[in-house]
Amino acid sequence: MTQESTHLRHGAAGRAGGAGRPRPALHFAPVRGWMNDPNGLIQHNGRVHLFYQHNPAGPVQEHIAWGHASSTDLWTWQDHPLALEPDPAGPDRDGCFSGCAVVADGTPRLLYTGVNQGHELPCLAAAADSDLIRWTRDPDNPVIASPPPGETVRAFRDHSAWRDGTAWYQVVGGGLQDRGGALFLYRSADLRTWQYAGVFAAAADHGLDGLIWECPDVFVLGDTTVVVVSVWDGQPPYAMWMTGQVTGHRFVPRASGRCDAGHRYYAPQSLTLADGRRVAFGWLRECLGELAGPDKTRVGAMSLPRELYLDSTDTLKSQPARELDSARRETLLTRLVHGRATAGVTLSARAAHATEISLTPVGRDVTSIGLRLAGPGRADVQVQVTTDGIEITEGDRRLTEPAAPRRASTAADAPVGQVRAWYDGGILEVFSPPAAATAVICHRDGRYDQVEAEIVGRPGAPPGRASLTAWSCGRHPDG
Ligand code: FRU
Repeated sequence: MTQESTHLRHGAAGRAGGAGRPRPALHFAPVRGWMNDPNGLIQHNGRVHLFYQHNPAGPVQEHIAWGHASSTDLWTWQDHPLALEPDPAGPDRDGCFSGCAVVADGTPRLLYTGVNQGHELPCLAAAADSDLIRWTRDPDNPVIASPPPGETVRAFRDHSAWRDGTAWYQVVGGGLQDRGGALFLYRSADLRTWQYAGVFAAAADHGLDGLIWECPDVFVLGDTTVVVVSVWDGQPPYAMWMTGQVTGHRFVPRASGRCDAGHRYYAPQSLTLADGRRVAFGWLRECLGELAGPDKTRVGAMSLPRELYLDSTDTLKSQPARELDSARRETLLTRLVHGRATAGVTLSARAAHATEISLTPVGRDVTSIGLRLAGPGRADVQVQVTTDGIEITEGDRRLTEPAAPRRASTAADAPVGQVRAWYDGGILEVFSPPAAATAVICHRDGRYDQVEAEIVGRPGAPPGRASLTAWSCGRHPDG
């Protein structure tokens, strides 16, 4: 633990984290350097461990190691030293790419992708202490010597593993020349020796998108198998969920959709908490070119923790993890809105705290909720929520996919539920189940002094009503 940096993330001192761009208050981001996918999510000895693709040396995706942080509330993170670093003499000499954690014989293990001169192969490491600070690589890495012979493999990386009876299974993400994005299934008794069991799922077999499916995440909710992949085939890439059943060694999806309506959320990974909730974090993609000179010290953030569940049609939904309630500090505003109202609330991308804005419809007549952030010198940010989806624009720039067309089964004037939006370091993350959660990144120097809400009721009904509340969130400097 000697080199460990304890970073009090939400106080003024903690946010500084050294010179450079401050960290958001609730969204995890590294002190400096590059961050992409969440990896190896695991709850162990009461702490949730978040590993992540990281280059601490600079804000570029090079020499990728596994960063490490842990938390008890999913929004205050303690930084730890790198968990895995490329070993100049090992099969991961050029990078330790994405992977997952499992517990075997009481010991957490990581399955990750070792990169060596263009080859990407599965590697294994075991925890060497109970705080998961030090990891020991398997001497026989890589534990799978090549992509499956006999398949026309286009990419082969990233892992999701689970145990079924006495056997371990893992899927490796990637693609096939003729069938697009694909997951390759392997079986093992000990995590070290793996037998290939065939293609678990492939995009073209089911009319789904993707030349490559990266970062698989396979888990079960109720009786349904959920497979989340990150779809790579042009711009912008996105995370897709599929729900269905496993038959033999194949996954048969029956429904699928986007995990998030924005263009930032990618490579999500989830874990089951001790109380049974399944919680996901996704990487909010940024690139260096989007940042001004003095901000080029760190790139990439994690989404807020999202609790996953299935609705009655086996559609994967998410809601903000309840731990976020404990981040609320001061109530900035509370009022009942009839139709439309404007309130003075100051939001700044540079503030040391985040702001949560909640709009709770009164009655069942509200069919749409609009939220506008406005301030001098900045394009307005407009959020529009219906049961179909969440759409966000900044000035005339669209930051989200168009909301999906209404399902025939959904009444055109179905009531919307509560809207909860967090503005944090320029990230705007909005939840309003049943719409897909949506994270966007707004102007880097966003500054707004007005929040406008518009509550729309059913045609012919009186103006809709909703209660509007705003809180500052995150730890106070003295907290
Ligand atoms: C997804 C990804 C993974 C890979 C990792 C490398 O963002 O491309 O497929 O393991 O990033 O950092």
